[in-house]
Amino acid sequence: MDGTEFSLSILGKRVNAYRAAVVGSRGASGLNPEQEPISRKAGVMGNVAVVIGATGLVGRALVDRLAAAGHIDGVMALTRRPAGHPSPKVHNHVVDFEHLENHAALFQADLLFSALGTTRKQAGSIAAQRTVDLDYQYKAAQLAAGHGVRHYLLVSSSGADAGSRNPYLRMKGELEQRVQALPFERISIFQPSLLMGQREEVRIAEKLGSWILPVLCALPGLRRFRPIGGDQVAAKMVLVSRQPGRGREWFRLDEIFVQ
Ligand SMILES: NC(=O)c1ccc[n+]([C@@H]2O[C@H](COP(=O)([O-])OP(=O)(O)OC[C@H]3O[C@@H](n4cnc5c(N)ncnc54)[C@H](OP(=O)(O)O)[C@@H]3O)[C@@H](O)[C@H]2O)c1
Repeated sequence: MDGTEFSLSILGKRVNAYRAAVVGSRGASGLNPEQEPISRKAGVMGNVAVVIGATGLVGRALVDRLAAAGHIDGVMALTRRPAGHPSPKVHNHVVDFEHLENHAALFQADLLFSALGTTRKQAGSIAAQRTVDLDYQYKAAQLAAGHGVRHYLLVSSSGADAGSRNPYLRMKGELEQRVQALPFERISIFQPSLLMGQREEVRIAEKLGSWILPVLCALPGLRRFRPIGGDQVAAKMVLVSRQPGRGREWFRLDEIFVQ
């Protein structure tokens, strides 16, 4: 053990985990290879946030906002394809979501932001969509809880309900239910309605919804269905991560709009 490693070891597991992950990141994607944030972090003992779904509408905004957030020292963006970011705080790891357990060490952090998801069309079937929206996200939550992550923040959906006849709302509800049993100190679940924002692919139904819903939702009684920007959801999540709290909490649409 050299002098640097010795001093890190007495600063606790989070620093060591962050160091291991950052060193690992050089091999994974080659991003941010020149930086050495450990010495800066060693004296700081700040927060490390893992983000899954980091290339998505909400996830991209999350990474940007976390990179700029004063209470976050490092951001681990776990993705299935390389995703560069200009901030030296952000470290990208390309992982195999089918075998997340092979990347368990990356979950030694303080916070997990979970914004993974697909559509039935993209996935090919409801079963394949469940694999991404439910199984991958639950596995990530399990690994994080098992590695001492204290705060778990999940993008779920309005209407999420484990008993729903709608398969999408059911998978969202099942995930909400399952993660509650995990030993996180704090769980924050966000339930947005239709998400608006710039996407890489065109989603016709969402496009139509983002035109029609704002008009419809001006009507009394329909406000609770109005669309929300992906960036607004991310902003609320980062704000909540900065505030103290314990236990389980839900943020429904109206509460997400309030920043
Ligand atoms: N769209 C809506 O209107 C809406 C409304 C309410 C709730 N939600 C929920 O909110 C969450 C975030 O939504 P979003 O619109 O920000 O998501 P998004 O833009 O579709 O991004 C999804 C993320 O998941 C990743 N992903 C998808 N399939 C994957 C796979 N097979 N393996 C690994 N990664 C995969 C994507 O990676 P790639 O970039 O590599 O594809 C991307 O990072 C989702 O859980 C969604 O169900 C969405």
